[in-house]
Amino acid sequence: MLEKKRQDGKGIDELRIISPSGESSCCGGSSQEIALLEGDEIRTQVQQYYADRAENLNSCCGDSSQNLLYESDLLQDLPEDIASFSLGCGDPITLAQLQAGEIVLDLGSGGGLDCFLAGRQIGEHGRVIGIDMTPEMLQRARSAAERMGIKNVEFRKGFLEQLPVEDGSVDVIISNCVINLSPDKPAVFAEMFRTLKPGGRVSVSDIVSSGELPEQIKKDMLAWGACIAGALEMDEYVHGLEQAGFEEVKLVAKSGEGDLLEKIPQNSLFSASITARKPVSYGSR
Ligand SMILES: C[S@@+](CC[C@H](N)C(=O)[O-])C[C@H]1O[C@@H](n2cnc3c(N)ncnc32)[C@H](O)[C@@H]1O
Repeated sequence: MLEKKRQDGKGIDELRIISPSGESSCCGGSSQEIALLEGDEIRTQVQQYYADRAENLNSCCGDSSQNLLYESDLLQDLPEDIASFSLGCGDPITLAQLQAGEIVLDLGSGGGLDCFLAGRQIGEHGRVIGIDMTPEMLQRARSAAERMGIKNVEFRKGFLEQLPVEDGSVDVIISNCVINLSPDKPAVFAEMFRTLKPGGRVSVSDIVSSGELPEQIKKDMLAWGACIAGALEMDEYVHGLEQAGFEEVKLVAKSGEGDLLEKIPQNSLFSASITARKPVSYGSR
């Protein structure tokens, strides 16, 4: 359920992107319309978008002191280039409250920052699996892990819609600004449910909308890459997770200032923190 719902159900005519902290998104770009947007086409274009960023972007945030997504303590002792390479929109690590020994799955691991942060918290008896479809991102993450001598984190090539992960094998799923990029969210939610252990939890940061996006935007390929065009309407996000079988689904605006949903202006995209749990009574399905 949503903690607070918007009062209107109107669509979005004019698009505004906001972040509660007032920062501009690091993933933005100019637009180029592409007429045919089938699922595979979207994934191919998104992959190209992130291949370019893996190779050509040293970081989106300058140095780690400018990576405002995380408390600075969390980033301490990480090499500057790794701590600053973030294409996320929140902090799913703090949200997840990870415990030593847990098995964590990161959907769309990118340069690997969240996996490395999770790896420090779950310790040597835990394990982190990062999944990404973009070879250039996997390469970047694997070489960072090797450079730091990290042993409890591995990166696997795969799609969110068909995770290369065993049924019921994961304690916690994290993800940072990725699910919005999938052209098939029901498949992603079903895969999350399948791979979690009964009682396992979800801790996701993602971009959502407070109304339907205009068709024009949904067809804009750079807007897909920039985490805009694929954003789910916030009620649909919650409903989609519930449909997949999750319980205790909660979506709140990312903020240190309490519940911000009622302050989100109409016709906006915003960064949300989403949590959910797979019922204990369920086997994998
Ligand atoms: C916005 S970046 C976020 C990366 C990372 N989570 C972070 O916070 O820096 C999105 C990442 O998800 C990956 N990705 C997007 N759609 C995917 C899909 N359907 N399956 C697997 N990976 C995907 C991209 O290759 C890219 O590395």
